[in-house]
Amino acid sequence: MTFETVHVDLGPRSYDVRIGSGLIDRAGSEITALIGRRRAAILTDENVGGLHLARLQDALAREGIDAPALTLPAGEATKCWAELGQAVEWLIAQKIERKDLVIALGGGVIGDLAGFAAAILRRGVRFVQIPTSLLAQVDSSVGGKTGINSPLGKNLIGAFHQPALVLADIDVLETLTPRDLRAGYGEVAKYGLLGDEGFFDWLEAAGPAIFADKAALQRAVRHSVAMKAGIVQRDETEQGERALLNLGHTFGHALESATGYGDRLLHGEGVAIGCTLAFDLSARMGLCSQEAPSRVAAHFAAMGLPSRIADIPGDLPDDARLVELMGQDKKVQDGKLRFILARGIGQAFVTDAVDPAMLHAVLGASRR
Ligand code: GLY
Repeated sequence: MTFETVHVDLGPRSYDVRIGSGLIDRAGSEITALIGRRRAAILTDENVGGLHLARLQDALAREGIDAPALTLPAGEATKCWAELGQAVEWLIAQKIERKDLVIALGGGVIGDLAGFAAAILRRGVRFVQIPTSLLAQVDSSVGGKTGINSPLGKNLIGAFHQPALVLADIDVLETLTPRDLRAGYGEVAKYGLLGDEGFFDWLEAAGPAIFADKAALQRAVRHSVAMKAGIVQRDETEQGERALLNLGHTFGHALESATGYGDRLLHGEGVAIGCTLAFDLSARMGLCSQEAPSRVAAHFAAMGLPSRIADIPGDLPDDARLVELMGQDKKVQDGKLRFILARGIGQAFVTDAVDPAMLHAVLGASRR
C-alpha cells in the first residue's frame, strides 16, 4: 500500500488529498482520525456501490464506524432536485448530526450531489470524497464545488463546501471502462494545457501507455491534484485564476448540452474537443502559434479521444444554437461570453474579447 498526500491549504477549511493504492481498505483509520467513532453515512450509485461499497463498509466497521449507505441511480440525471431531496431526507432519517460525516463514494455525479447534500444538511456537515473515476480524482473531488444541474444548464445550483478529506484510490480505476478512463484523461491533459507545458510534454511521452502503468497514472493524478490545489488555494471561490480550470468547458458544456449529457459525449470527451477548439480559436486570433492546436489535437487522437465536433456521432444543432448554449455557462458576465484561451501550451488566460466571426469559423472548421 503506497500513497502520497497533497495538502490543500485553506486555513480552517484545509484538508489532505491522499492518492495511491489500497486507500479504500484504509478508509476506516483515515476517517476515525477525523471523527472519532461517531457515525457516517455513505452516498453512492448503483454501479460503484456494487463494486466497492461492501469493502468500504468493512473497512469502516473494522474501526467501529457504522456507515449505512443510500444507493442512487448512476448517471448525470441523478444530479437533480428530486435525488438531492431524497438524499438529504435519508441523511436526516439516519440521524446524521453536525459532527458526523457524509461519505461520497463515486464519480463526479455522486461527489457533487453528496457534497451539496452535506453543505445544506443542518447548515453544513463535513464530508469525505472517495472518488472512483479518473475525472473525479483529478478534478471534481478537490476544491469544494458541489451542486446539481438545472434543466436550463449544468451545475447551475450549488455551493462551495470543501471536503474534510479526499481518498483517491488508484486501484479502483482498474474497474473503469477504457472509454471512461480516456474521458477522465481529458481533464488530466487540461492541467498541462492550462498551466504546465513540462507536464504536457511528459503526458505526450507517457500518455499512450499510462493506463497500463500504475506508477505513471498515480504521478499524473498527483500532479493534476497538486496543480488544482495550488489554484484553489489562491482563488477558492473563482474570482479570477480558478476560471482557468474551465479550459475547454465553455465549448464542452455546450456540446454536452446539445447531445443530452449522455453516452454520445462524455464530459471528458467534451473537454478534449473544447480544449482543441480553445487552442484553435487562440491560434486564429493570433494569440498562439498555428502548431499549438495541431499538437493538442494530435495528443488527444493518440489517447483515443475526440478532438473535433465531427467526431461526435449523430446530428448536432447549428452553430448559432451552440453559441446560445454557451450562453448558459457560469462564466458569462454582464451577458458576455468568457473564454479560456491560451498564448501557448501551458499559458491559458480568461477573456471576453472574442470576435463572433472567428468563433463561428472555429466551430465550422471543427465540423468538417
Ligand atoms: N472543475 C473546475 C473547478 O473545480 O473549479
